[in-house]
Amino acid sequence: MPNWKELLSLDEGGMLQALRQFPEQVERALGLACRVPNGVQGFKNVVVLGMGGSAIAGDLLASFSTLPVVTVRDYELPPWLSGDTFLIAISYSGETEETLVAFREGLRRTRRALALTTGGALAALCEEEEIPWIPVPPGLQPRAALAFLLFPLLGCFSRFGYVRGNPSSVVTILRRLRDACFPDENENVAQSVAKILCGKVPVIYGARTTAPVAYRWKTQINENAKQPAYWMELPELCHNEIVGYELAGKVFPQGIVVFLRTSFDHPRVAKRVEILKEVLSSRGLKFLEVWGEGEDALSQALWLLYFGDWVSFYLALLNGVDPTPVRPIQELKRMLKEP
Ligand code: PA5
Repeated sequence: MPNWKELLSLDEGGMLQALRQFPEQVERALGLACRVPNGVQGFKNVVVLGMGGSAIAGDLLASFSTLPVVTVRDYELPPWLSGDTFLIAISYSGETEETLVAFREGLRRTRRALALTTGGALAALCEEEEIPWIPVPPGLQPRAALAFLLFPLLGCFSRFGYVRGNPSSVVTILRRLRDACFPDENENVAQSVAKILCGKVPVIYGARTTAPVAYRWKTQINENAKQPAYWMELPELCHNEIVGYELAGKVFPQGIVVFLRTSFDHPRVAKRVEILKEVLSSRGLKFLEVWGEGEDALSQALWLLYFGDWVSFYLALLNGVDPTPVRPIQELKRMLKEP
C-alpha cells in the first residue's frame, strides 16, 4: 500500500482542504441563489458563457434544467440568442478572454443577464452595464470553486421551477462521501480507484446526466494528476469508438475504461454497457464501473462528480505531483497577451 500520509506532503497548494470543503461550499453557494433577481424570469432559453473549470457549471445546469441550456465555450454566440435568452457569464478570474468578448456581444442582444465571478474585468463590465453579478470567494482554483459557480444557478432555477431534483438534498450525500474519501489510517475507495488508474490512460464514459461528469473526471485527471485522460458518451460511442477497440490492445495498451453508472440510466443504455463490457474483455481491454449514490439523478451525478474529484486528487499524489498548479494554462494565457 502506498504511504498515503507521506504522499499528502505533495499537496503544497492545499487541494485537500478545498476538496474537503465542497459540501459546505454547496450549502453556502445555495444561499447566494437569492442574488439572482426574479426580474430575469420569462426567458425561454439559457446561454452560459465560460471556459474550462468555469464552463462545466453550464453543462451540469443543462443536464438538470427543464429549459434549453447551451454552454458556449467560444468568442462567438449562437445566431438565435435574443431578448428571450437568459445570458449567464461564468468566469472564476473574471479575466477570461473568450467569455468577456462573447458577454459584451451578448449584452447587445439581451438584458436578461447575470455573471458569476470573483471580480476582474467581468465584474467591472457588469457594473458598467448595470447587470447583476454574484461574487464568488477568491483564492481557489476555478475547478475547486465549482460549488460557487453551479449551485447559485441550480438554487435560482429551482426557485423558478426549472430544475429536476432538489439541489439542497445533495449536501447530505456529499458529506457522507467526503467522510468516506478523506484520508485516514485505512486505504479508502477513492484511493483504491486511483491505484487502479495509476500508470494508465483513463477513458471515462457517461450518459446523459453523467456525460458532463465524465468530462469533469477527464479534466480533473488532466489538471490535478497532470496526465492524459479522455471521455466519451453513451449511446453515441456505440456508433464509432467501439470500432477503435479492434486495435486498441495493440496501440493503446495502457487504456482503461471507467463507466459512470446510475440507477437512472436508460435501460437500453444499461444494456449497451453490458455488451460493451463483453466487447472490451474480448479485446483484452481493462474497465471498471463506478455507481453513483443518492435518491435522484441529480444526487447520483454529483456523487459521481465529487468521487471523481477525490480519485483525481489521489492519482496526482501517486503520480508524484502537487494537484493544484496548472502552469501550462497560465503560460499559454501569458503568451496570448504578448504582442
Ligand atoms: O481550471 C482552470 O484553471 C481553467 O480551466 C480555467 O477555469 C479556464 O482557463 C477559465 O478561467 P476562468 O475560470 O478564470 O474563467
